[in-house]
Amino acid sequence: MADKNKTMRIDKFLSNQLGISRTDAKELIKKRLVTVNGAAVKFFDMKIDPGSDRIISEGREVVYREHIYIMLNKPQGVVCSTKDGLSKTVLELLPTELLRDGLFPAGRLDKDTEGFVFITDDGALAHKILSPKSHVEKLYFARLEKPAEEGYKDIFASGMEIDGRDICLPAKIEICDDPHEVYISIKEGMYHQVKRMAEAVGNRVIYLKRLKIGELALDENLAPGECREIMHKEVEKLYTKFMP
Ligand code: URA
Repeated sequence: MADKNKTMRIDKFLSNQLGISRTDAKELIKKRLVTVNGAAVKFFDMKIDPGSDRIISEGREVVYREHIYIMLNKPQGVVCSTKDGLSKTVLELLPTELLRDGLFPAGRLDKDTEGFVFITDDGALAHKILSPKSHVEKLYFARLEKPAEEGYKDIFASGMEIDGRDICLPAKIEICDDPHEVYISIKEGMYHQVKRMAEAVGNRVIYLKRLKIGELALDENLAPGECREIMHKEVEKLYTKFMP
């Protein structure tokens, strides 16, 4: 017997899990392409228990996941929003098998920034990662117009002021062998924050890529524009602190 609290309509389930419209879900049902525990579904409003019923659509099992977590390597020129009239959005880069209702990028990168974008339909987890109170670190690689100076380290660590109004939380900058290249870790996500921090010390970011959120690093096997699902045990790395 299905637990009433956990049941949902089959058309809603299909739409949500397959990332298709309710109309398309109904079409599959009309064509008798959906079975629940071996029997063809006849009614759009049939109640199913996603946790225990076996749902097959077009010959493939629809395995229930309450939420989905995706790591995308965003290329330049793509925007971090759900809709944009002009530019391609990060959601448009996802393959159909990962699409579902309610997906959004949790945290934005600028159009010209590359790298790790976290996409989910789990609002509570997104809040946990994005809230400045959580102090989840994000690691960036940046190329600067001018060589970085040793003095930046103390300025970044002290909680610098940007644009004469915003005070940043203490951040970390590591200078590479080529001093035009740096790694910057920040614990919040203010608008254009890394670029504004570079400008506050008289420099300019000419290339920016996000490499890490919490302890989860961008998968090196993902070419720009590619994505993969974040597996369950990796999810908690997203909100683990890595900066002392
Ligand atoms: N800081 C920026 O300036 N831009 C980004 O896209 C991310 C962090």
